[in-house]
Parts: sequence; structure tokens; C-alpha cells
Amino acid sequence: MLASPQQQPVVSRASTGAPVDASAGGPPALRFSHVSKTYRAGQVKALDDVSFDIRPGEFFGLLGPNGAGKTSLISILAGLSRASGGQVSVLGHDVVDDYANARKKLGIVPQELVFDPFFSVRETLRIQSGYFGVRNNDDWIDELLLNLGLADKAHANMRQLSGGMKRRVLVAQALVHRPPVIVLDEPTAGVDVELRQTLWQFIARLNREGHTVLLTTHYLEEAEALCHRIAMLKQGRVVALDRTSELLAGTASTMLQFKTDAALPLSLVENARVTGRVVQLTAHDALEVERILATLREAAVPIEDLEIGRANLEDVFIEIMQGSRA
Ligand SMILES: Nc1ncnc2c1ncn2[C@@H]1O[C@H](COP(=O)(O)OP(=O)(O)O)[C@@H](O)[C@H]1O
Ligand SMILES: [Mg+2]
Repeated sequence: MLASPQQQPVVSRASTGAPVDASAGGPPALRFSHVSKTYRAGQVKALDDVSFDIRPGEFFGLLGPNGAGKTSLISILAGLSRASGGQVSVLGHDVVDDYANARKKLGIVPQELVFDPFFSVRETLRIQSGYFGVRNNDDWIDELLLNLGLADKAHANMRQLSGGMKRRVLVAQALVHRPPVIVLDEPTAGVDVELRQTLWQFIARLNREGHTVLLTTHYLEEAEALCHRIAMLKQGRVVALDRTSELLAGTASTMLQFKTDAALPLSLVENARVTGRVVQLTAHDALEVERILATLREAAVPIEDLEIGRANLEDVFIEIMQGSRA
């Protein structure tokens, strides 16, 4: 069991296997209520009336293109920046009025690599434990090092580590005080496949044991595999929020992919995703698939390597970001 008695996650999902219902009582793990954020004297509106709750025990994904406001929202949650309006709370603790208690409940892995180059990995984790008033934490630190593939780096100096290894230390640092709510801001941006797998195995285990997880990522296949619910941000506004399965069910269900050197007929260009010679088109049903193929044939567009498959979260994301569903 990872959680210490005094910091037990509020609800364990392990017994039910399903995300905890908000009606179960108790405060939400995270509450964002009408949050707005402007920069440069109001010229940049990074967040615009963002409201949603994350339930204890949920694995929640926050998706959105660069500049959508994900890091701004997490900075406000972490107490690193002030909201221009609205409230944020962690397990009922307001991040401004009750900052110390809110911060104790949170483990935050920041997007930017920040660390002190003069300490070893173990020293870094001991210092971080000290910040949270946790003493004699070496057993837990050892478990973190082991689970994050850092066991042989305990005595290495931070400045000797590769970017991927530093990222692992950041994750360990966020978890030293066994926070019930874990927040990861693009933890796998630019990291190797091995770290991604190690990290997700460990985070998924913590989630099974009852920890709430908020994840932002660019890798939509990760979000699709891991998250119970997903919110999508676009220009500071929530444009979609649903169970992952509902988001997938609500989209065009079929994906057509083929290769061509020819220009597409105008009626298809608008909804096509083109990467070099590869063209992807979504369809809602078999009739639409037939219509697309007929349109290509009538326009005498030669196609190769046709594949027809199920649409995934990336297709949903693009559909929503293009505004066809929002
Ligand atoms: N410190 C800052 N000063 C001015 N503008 C900022 C600052 N931080 C973020 N922004 C702007 O706010 C918007 C949201 O950025 P950010 O929250 O980093 O988005 P994301 O993490 O989704 O990529 C962007 O337009 C970004 O340029
Ligand atoms: Mg960001």
C-alpha cells in the first residue's frame, strides 16, 4: 500500500472498478469554478470561464493544442500564478485562501524541467520531502526510485542526468509526500518510449490504488488508453467534456485512409487531413463511405492502399478543434 495512513486517498476505486460518482459525497478532488486568466493587462485571454470538477479516484485528461491554456490552469492550481477570476480548490481546500492544505494534497509534475543541479537524485528527493515536513522518507524514496527506473541513479548528480532521467526525477519529486491528487503537465513530451511505459505503469497503479490523476498530453493515444473522462480546451474555453467512451461514440465512426498524388475534389478537401501523399477522411456510416468513394471515382482520383478503420480520439480531437462539433 503506497498511501501512508494520515494521507490515505479519499476514495479507492479498486473495489468498484468504476470511477467514483460525485453523488457519493465529499468534496471533488479538483474543482475549477469560472476560472479566467488574462496576461499582459488583459490583452491575452488564456482562460475564459473554465468550470469542471474531477472526482476522487478519476483519471482525467485535459487536452488541447499548444496555447489552449492547459499550463495556465495548472499554474493556478499549483499556486504559481493567480487566477484573474474564479476559484480553484483541491479536496475542498481553496488554492488561495487555504493554500498550504491545498498544496499538500497535490503532486505536480511541471511541463518545464526545473531542478537544482548541485544535488544528487536522493538528496533532491530528501529536500523535497523536507518541504512537505515528511521525515524518514527513505523507504518511500527507494520505492519511487525503483518504480521510475532510477534505482542506479540515486547518487548521480542532477546535472549528469539526461533529459529523460531528469523528467523521472521530477515525477518522483512530485510524489515524495504521497499526494492524493497527482497532476502531470505533458510528462511524456519528447521522452523515450521506455520512460512512457514505466511512467504509465506506475501512474496507472497509483490510480488503481485510489489516487486521482489529472493529465495533460499531446499524445492522444495515451489519453484514450488511460483517461476515464476528458476535457478539451480551445483558446481558453472548455469545448468538450465527457467520458472517453462517449467522446469516441459521438464521433464519425469510420476513418478512411488512402494514398494519392492527385488533387482531391473540392467537396472532400474541407474535411480531409492530408499528410504528404496520405489522405484521411472520416465518415459517419457506410453510406457516407460509399459517397466518398463515388466522389473520388467520379473525379478520377487514383487511390492506393485504401484502408477503412475505426475512428480514434485523435479524429474526435481534430473534429472538435475544427469546430464541426463544438
Ligand atoms: N507568462 C505569460 N505571459 C503572457 N502570456 C502567457 C504567459 N503564459 C502563457 N501565456 C499565453 O497564454 C496562452 C495559454 O498558454 P498555456 O497555458 O501555456 O497553454 P498550453 O499549456 O495549453 O500550451 C497562450 O496564448 C500563451 O502564449
Ligand atoms: Mg503547456
